Amino acid sequence: MVSTFTFSLLLAATVWFYQSQASEDADCGSELEFLTWELRKSAREPEFFKWMIGLRRRIHQYPELGFQEHKTSELIRSELDSLGVKYKWPVARTGVVASIGTGSKPVFALRADMDALPLQELVEWEYKSKIDGKMHACGHDSHVAMLLGAAKLLQEKRDILKGTVKLVFQPGEEGYAGAYHMLQDGVLDDIDGIFALHVHPHIPTGTIASRPGQIVGGVGLFKATIQGIGGHGAAPHKTRDPIVAAAFATLALQQIVSREKNPLEPGVVTVGYIQGGQADNVIPESVKLGGTYRSLTSEGLYYIQERIREVMEQQAAVHRCTAVVDFLEEIPLPHPPMANDQALYEHVKNVGQVLLGKPNVRLLPLAMAAEDFSYFAEKTAAAIFVIGTGNETLKSDKGAHSPYFFIDEEALPLGAALHAAIAVSYLDDHDSVEHVSLFNSGDKQCLAYEVV
Ligand SMILES: *[C@@H]1O[C@H](CO)[C@@H](O)[C@H](O)[C@H]1NC(C)=O
Ligand SMILES: [Zn+2]
Ligand SMILES: [Zn+2]
Repeated sequence: MVSTFTFSLLLAATVWFYQSQASEDADCGSELEFLTWELRKSAREPEFFKWMIGLRRRIHQYPELGFQEHKTSELIRSELDSLGVKYKWPVARTGVVASIGTGSKPVFALRADMDALPLQELVEWEYKSKIDGKMHACGHDSHVAMLLGAAKLLQEKRDILKGTVKLVFQPGEEGYAGAYHMLQDGVLDDIDGIFALHVHPHIPTGTIASRPGQIVGGVGLFKATIQGIGGHGAAPHKTRDPIVAAAFATLALQQIVSREKNPLEPGVVTVGYIQGGQADNVIPESVKLGGTYRSLTSEGLYYIQERIREVMEQQAAVHRCTAVVDFLEEIPLPHPPMANDQALYEHVKNVGQVLLGKPNVRLLPLAMAAEDFSYFAEKTAAAIFVIGTGNETLKSDKGAHSPYFFIDEEALPLGAALHAAIAVSYLDDHDSVEHVSLFNSGDKQCLAYEVV
């Protein structure tokens, strides 16, 4: 009852505002206030909240790795069916693209990734992963739930959408370039912009963060085999020792960033594993090692990639071994660096400030993490924000990819409302159709919200 009262009060205030300031630009600010207030209210309804959390927990219990998201995809389609939302499937094997609205331009997309990680969950709670060795430790389960939440909110508003919203449920973000493969399907050829949310445990629930322009780096992976000649540990002269070659190569790789790159241009080379040998008195035939490299620019990425190949091959040669380096280009890799589109960033920031309050939209520091969302950013205007799930009481402050990763589910309705508000207001702002009306366009749009 309190909420009905607030509603009437806000409505009265809104009408007064339009009457008194009908010709000013400020109208649209109020229109946005009303939209976000309404969406947030719907998303906070106990039933809606329960439904979203239920979805997230079901996905959390049955995590699936990249391009194997069959159950997750099935759950998404069944929920879309219940909502009466049309979709295309399969897109990139397990992916789903739903559409809500007029079916014509402008087309704005919202994206959620669906895959889990090969990691054993160590959090003991009621909805712990039921699959040994697999866990939603990057929060993609909650991304799916938030986007389904947005689907419900948008479907309720389908008659006032001034264009089309496409909901992109993407497989294989964790190193499979799922975004790239989704774009190979023509279903996303017409998008004018795209937005994604990623949960973030280091900012509190109720806040979001991002930055204009560059936000995360590009990422590449490499796997190398150094081939030698094995033999007795007491007779190195009759062998070609790949262990020594691998050790020199690993150290030499560290000089690429420290001695070759401009110190003002960040880069990373990390060797993440070395595998070779079994016995303490045997020189093995070969050693395998692999790692990751990062840069904030594409040129930087390709420079480091080329040098990793040269350093590995030539360090192996110095030690009379050979090296073969695989950069997994077929995935494809490396993923490009990610930059937010300036105008879309401003749009999301504005909507976020109205929905969550100004202090709750923060500036995120630049990071060398990576996101395959960068493939969307190469194609169209794209923006990614993080949404806080940190809560001291719940101890939901463990970093992504930790076996103790845990989120505050209170963030889910906020994410759903934010997704929906961004899409609805984007279409309003980019509406290309001239509305003929007795009112001026500002009045007419505001009126549309008054009658819903
Ligand atoms: C943290 O979670 C607890 C338990 O769900 C809740 O009562 C509290 O309001 C949350 N705190 C914040 C800052 O969201
Ligand atoms: Zn991840
Ligand atoms: Zn992730």
